[in-house]
Amino acid sequence: MCGIIGYIGNENAVCKLTEGLSVLEYRGYDSVGIAVESDGEIKTVKCRGRIDDLKKKEELSALSSHCGIGHTRWATHGAPSDTNAHPHRSGRVTLVHNGIIENYKELKKELEAAGKSFVSETDSEIAAGLLDVCYLESKDPVTAILQCARKLTGSYALGILFEDRPGEVYAVRCGSPLLLASSEDGCYLASDMTAFLPFTKKYYCLAEGEIACLSAEGATVHRDGMSAFSPAWSITDLNAEAAQKGGYPHFMLKEIFEQPRAIVNAVSVRARNGLPDFSHDGIDLDFWRSIQRIQIVACGSAMHAGLVGAGLLEHYAKIPTTVHVASEYRYNPPLSSEGTLVLLISQSGETADTLAALRYAKSAGLPTLAIVNAVETTIAREADRRIYTYAGPEIAVATTKGYCTQAAVLYMIAAQIALARGKMTEGHLREMIHSLLTAAPAAMERFLSEKREQFVRLAGKLSKAEHMFYIGRGLDYSLSMEASLKLKEISYIHAESYAAGELKHGTISLVEEGTPVIAIMTERDLYDKTESNVREVASRGAYVILICREDAPSAKVSDDVILLPGTSDAETLFCALAAVQMLAYETARARGCDIDRPRNLAKSVTVE
Ligand code: AGP
Ligand code: GLU
Repeated sequence: MCGIIGYIGNENAVCKLTEGLSVLEYRGYDSVGIAVESDGEIKTVKCRGRIDDLKKKEELSALSSHCGIGHTRWATHGAPSDTNAHPHRSGRVTLVHNGIIENYKELKKELEAAGKSFVSETDSEIAAGLLDVCYLESKDPVTAILQCARKLTGSYALGILFEDRPGEVYAVRCGSPLLLASSEDGCYLASDMTAFLPFTKKYYCLAEGEIACLSAEGATVHRDGMSAFSPAWSITDLNAEAAQKGGYPHFMLKEIFEQPRAIVNAVSVRARNGLPDFSHDGIDLDFWRSIQRIQIVACGSAMHAGLVGAGLLEHYAKIPTTVHVASEYRYNPPLSSEGTLVLLISQSGETADTLAALRYAKSAGLPTLAIVNAVETTIAREADRRIYTYAGPEIAVATTKGYCTQAAVLYMIAAQIALARGKMTEGHLREMIHSLLTAAPAAMERFLSEKREQFVRLAGKLSKAEHMFYIGRGLDYSLSMEASLKLKEISYIHAESYAAGELKHGTISLVEEGTPVIAIMTERDLYDKTESNVREVASRGAYVILICREDAPSAKVSDDVILLPGTSDAETLFCALAAVQMLAYETARARGCDIDRPRNLAKSVTVE
């Protein structure tokens, strides 16, 4: 993870770099730094902490430059500290690094034997040392980067300055994302588009192994064995506001409220004449017909969305579907057979575990399809087929609209395969799509604005808890997993989710007077069963909040009830999702937590 930015142009590089880092901070935020070229020297200012801490440093205001690189870190090698903060320098090379150099120990030994010394605990400084040695030999930046890259294993994106090459910023990537951008005033380098959106919409995704050079003349790209070329710029349709808070106190709240629109964006392009149709994504009916079983592979919330998707796929499309944690997939691969589709889900499109699973599936000859939000990212590009969720930039570390649109797309895939396999009537499919496109977003929007006070009141009670449980059956159980992850990651309250009927097989011993248990109960067929489980915990003193439909007969068995509007399954599902997201948000707020940047986390996890 981490954010990289680079700039060369007519304007003040220090402002450009710090502005870019403020936007990129969500990618990692334990230390921060910049290096700029000034009066023929490379000057570095860095510290433990966040961009606001860097901005307070006197040395920063003394800097003036038109060319530099910056970094906001999520530590993998060495604790967050001033010394471990990037940029790192070795000889004439100063660089910022995103990712992990796997063979850094061996390289360090070799380099130390050759006389190099290092001051930090990072793997990144070793890459700087190696590059400096290569540069001493070759005297040419591109050749040196190429030689250095051949010796590095692991994943990396590097932004590089050479002391004797003023006015030039170099970059290379392998596994970690890196984009170039061009504007009237100069050229940029960034880990993601949001960093340069306020300045330009013209971008180029650096491909694996390509080396970029940014200078006053513009950008050039070098590919092994080819002569240098100018990048073919693309234009993004995202705008800068998409990556700003727009009057909300937190990105997370803004993103929760953006969900109704995001569902419409995700669904509308996959509906034609009221029926599912993925021709927008270049996927035809024959492809859907060819699928015999599905393996969903993802991490964290994306994996939870996959669990909801598996429920929908088995229920509506009658297609056997299993869900796998991406970090396990390639080491403990499930059995596959003819007609197995591997369906990867990733908001960021850069998660290393998911990417490794994708590459493994491809090497095993399995067809792959990725559901991704961030366009043109590695997972989106490497999968055989891709479906974008069009949720727009998601900045809060805790995903909300990312998960929501993944669920919406999975609904559409289930509908599409049901159509291809003749498992649902056209009438039923039309109803489902109508509900997804109109009723569900409208119900979610009303629900979010009408229930705000109730969420705040309930969160006041929950915020005092140290442990909590979420329970549900079927899809409600899948949703409860996401609910408990959301609460944990932003409020730091320990929460667990359990299949409602499973709690009594041991864990109920943890329920004592006042332990909060949040029961999600939307599955009509299972009302009675879940109600019994609610009674079991209530009679042991639990404080129960029930999230159920307005027509649920058993709404009175709990201490508090959140009533979900709507009649269709999609309306209820998305409103229940909004309820658990808002409970997590308001609870974290009541506890004074740093909601958008929770401790120890970062937005996209680009290391295995
Ligand atoms: C969600 O709130 C988490 N931050 C995390 O679980 C996330 O969903 C997971 O790391 C997967 O990320 P991806 O969707 O970008 O692949
Ligand atoms: N591995 C490097 C470090 O620990 C880079 C981590 C990152 O991507 O932020 O400094």
